[in-house]
Amino acid sequence: MPTAGWWEALWPDPSGVLATIGLKAGMDVIDLCSGDGWFTLQIAKIAHHVVAIDIDRNLLEVARHRLNENGVTNCDFVAGDAYELAKLAPRPVDFVFMANAFHGVPDRPRLAQAVRETLKPAGHFAVVNWHQRPREETTILGEPRGPKTELRMSPEQTIEAVEAGGLKLAQLVEIPPYHYGVVFERSR
Ligand SMILES: C[S@@+](CC[C@H](N)C(=O)[O-])C[C@H]1O[C@@H](n2cnc3c(N)ncnc32)[C@H](O)[C@@H]1O
Repeated sequence: MPTAGWWEALWPDPSGVLATIGLKAGMDVIDLCSGDGWFTLQIAKIAHHVVAIDIDRNLLEVARHRLNENGVTNCDFVAGDAYELAKLAPRPVDFVFMANAFHGVPDRPRLAQAVRETLKPAGHFAVVNWHQRPREETTILGEPRGPKTELRMSPEQTIEAVEAGGLKLAQLVEIPPYHYGVVFERSR
């Protein structure tokens, strides 16, 4: 998980990112690999309810603190492995959001299948990824940031991996300066 400072500089408007990828008021949402809750807080402000899931209990505690400080109470925090999503999620949701983590998943179709199982019919899965650019080009506050160059995925690679797990491409969007978002739909 990145340290604060450059992360905030990279994502000054997390609610704008959420609007771009189609998150809407009233949705039940899972923030998968939620980290320290930078996006979770904004999701909770928009959505009906959010479940933040991360393998790292310490980061979940940071996220819990962030939401508490902001008086936000419509979020549950669940520690566990993303592959076990279908067991970790208490009920089907309208939207699964996964930012800055899909590139690190070893078996991506398996993860997409687990996401599919947690989505309501016509539910959506949004993946926000770093563009497949050399790391030295993606500078923030003067320093190269983000995953190693060789870990980065193109939109096409992301689409292929998620569709192999049974979800259909719905939308591909640019999230400047260094990211893209791919939104998938569970067909009814
Ligand atoms: C770079 S952080 C991104 C956090 C957050 N999504 C954001 O964009 O601010 C990646 C997160 O993925 C989590 N993670 C890594 N492997 C995981 C797994 N197998 N299951 C659940 N979470 C995992 C890490 O603990 C970390 O919090």
